[in-house]
Amino acid sequence: MKILQWFVPLAVIALLAGCSGTASDGNGVIKVGTDAVYPPFETQKGNGEIVGFDIDIIQAIAEAEEMEISVHHTGWDPLFEAIDRGQMDMGISAATITEDRKKKYDFSEPYFEAKQLILVPENADVKSLADLKGKKIGVQSATTGEAVVTKAFGKTYKGLRGYDDTPGAIDDLVAGRVDAVVADNGVVQDYMKKKLEGGKFKTIEDDSFDPEFYGIIVKKGNQEMLDKINSGLEKIQNDGTYDKIYNKWFGDKK
Ligand code: ARG
Repeated sequence: MKILQWFVPLAVIALLAGCSGTASDGNGVIKVGTDAVYPPFETQKGNGEIVGFDIDIIQAIAEAEEMEISVHHTGWDPLFEAIDRGQMDMGISAATITEDRKKKYDFSEPYFEAKQLILVPENADVKSLADLKGKKIGVQSATTGEAVVTKAFGKTYKGLRGYDDTPGAIDDLVAGRVDAVVADNGVVQDYMKKKLEGGKFKTIEDDSFDPEFYGIIVKKGNQEMLDKINSGLEKIQNDGTYDKIYNKWFGDKK
């Protein structure tokens, strides 16, 4: 089954804001939203095609459940809004299952384990999160990276710099406009490998960072969709498809 993928400009989402009901586009195609600025989980190629670990996972789940899906780049905050409004049937976006989010959304079973990671220049005298106190810290707004920083230094911490996407924060670190970035390990490690090689940056773990688990997001109460997602996820975990996708994006670690 072919997955249709196209970019939905935010303007279109805004235009659709008045519509209600299910997001599927009338042909039974299930709409999947993502913030496709998050390699290797979701990223947009030059031609607009959205690719990544998450995309392969949701495509495999869809195939296992005989669903037809289309994947749309919504951005991060707008993804949650689009699910609220029923414009997207689900979201897959390296989204951590948190108690807070569970109040407003339902999540699939966990499909990936992650952790926060601190990224600093190689010569920075930083060994833990506490050492970042007083420094400018870049995070993607409304993410768990932001949450660990505000938990440590307060919600009104002056050094906090929020970005719409994680690469924006990392670019500002490279440009010297922030002293550190706190973000998910997968995306930070991918950056280290592909863009920051040359030893000018290093990553720091902190004991206070809890394991995080990514889940697929649906509107609260959409049990039918949730059941299908969980059933598909179980199938691809049992038949080796999940491991194949994992190895494709993260090497032979599993
Ligand atoms: N796991 C983190 C969170 O849920 C960051 C996810 C950001 N994902 C993205 N595609 N931008 O808060």
